[in-house]
Amino acid sequence: MEKVRVVLYGVGAVGSSIAKFLLQKEGVEIVGAIDIAEEKVGKDLGEVLGTGEQLGIVVSNNPDAVFSKVKANLMVHATASFLKQVYPQIAKALEHEVNVVSTCEELAYPYAAEPELARKLDELAKENGVTVLGTGINPGFLMDTLVITLTSVCQNVERIKVTRILNAAMRRVPFQEKIGAGLLIKEFRERVEKRTITGHVGLEQSMSMIADALGWKMDWIEIDPVEPVIAKVRVEGEVIKVGLGQVAGLKQSARGMKEGKEVIALNFQAYMGAEEEYDSITIEGVPSIHMKIVPCVHGDIGTVAMIVNSIPKVINARPGLVTMKDLPIPSAVLKDVRVHIAMKTG
Ligand SMILES: NC(=O)c1ccc[n+]([C@@H]2O[C@H](COP(=O)([O-])OP(=O)(O)OC[C@H]3O[C@@H](n4cnc5c(N)ncnc54)[C@H](OP(=O)(O)O)[C@@H]3O)[C@@H](O)[C@H]2O)c1
Repeated sequence: MEKVRVVLYGVGAVGSSIAKFLLQKEGVEIVGAIDIAEEKVGKDLGEVLGTGEQLGIVVSNNPDAVFSKVKANLMVHATASFLKQVYPQIAKALEHEVNVVSTCEELAYPYAAEPELARKLDELAKENGVTVLGTGINPGFLMDTLVITLTSVCQNVERIKVTRILNAAMRRVPFQEKIGAGLLIKEFRERVEKRTITGHVGLEQSMSMIADALGWKMDWIEIDPVEPVIAKVRVEGEVIKVGLGQVAGLKQSARGMKEGKEVIALNFQAYMGAEEEYDSITIEGVPSIHMKIVPCVHGDIGTVAMIVNSIPKVINARPGLVTMKDLPIPSAVLKDVRVHIAMKTG
């Protein structure tokens, strides 16, 4: 079987890590790279990744040129979180008959915030005989796919509560900046206002995916405004220092109501100095289930893995827009991607 030919769309922090992970796998080759960042366009991908070797792939800012030149099977997409913004990027790949796996948070369950764009993507993918999936660690797994999977051993489910707490001091600096660590409370609120701090994108998507999987018709879903977590102790990161009373990070919650009762509660917290990092899922039902992953799954490592591990699932899937709840249970690709492909790439 031929190797799976991948085009990267977005070689930022996550896209670069995905590229490096793909280079370690068998049965897959990177055949193109697209980005708009000035410091990357025109450079060899190896240089952009800092691997110390030339890969013979020049990063281009012209998607049409890339897709016309290389015959790709799949695009790994990692540029932005909102579907309105990335729709043209994803549509471009579908028009060129290329499957898509994307980190775009809203694409993880686009029926929630963007039903019309979801319909258009589904139609376009079907017309071109390819599949499109949004996934990652969260949304994509911890607050939705894993929760849905756990309910499979329940005879009844009354209520679900999911909490993810991560210590941002252990994460990369751009992530610490993204959550407002080191800011004064006033500065944090100004950035929320200007939408340069967006909070956690994905709560609405995760909640809607769980509700649909359980056949729950929600009265309403409420996403709380993002709030700062105020430092109770000084935290010294390598670059960012958080003083007492300054912003250590952020927290955001969401709740879903059904027949007047809160049936789903999601709680996300990311801040420097969190004493315990964990992912916990509590299902009240028959039986009740409590699961706690300590420390919480590392966001970047988990996202990179989930994107690459989803490649064969997407190639095997029916054409159209799919979500994690439509695919076979997720699993790791340990070596050769082709082992998991049902004879589709030639
Ligand atoms: N679902 C999940 O669990 C999950 C997990 C991790 C990340 N994500 C999401 O994945 C996305 C990527 O994350 P990241 O940390 O890698 O972000 P990043 O470091 O900002 O990288 C994004 C890259 O894409 C480029 N880009 C932006 N718009 C583009 C366009 N129109 N065409 C081509 N390239 C474009 C950026 O260039 P510029 O720098 O010039 O803008 C940058 O090089 C984010 O939205 C993030 O929230 C999701």
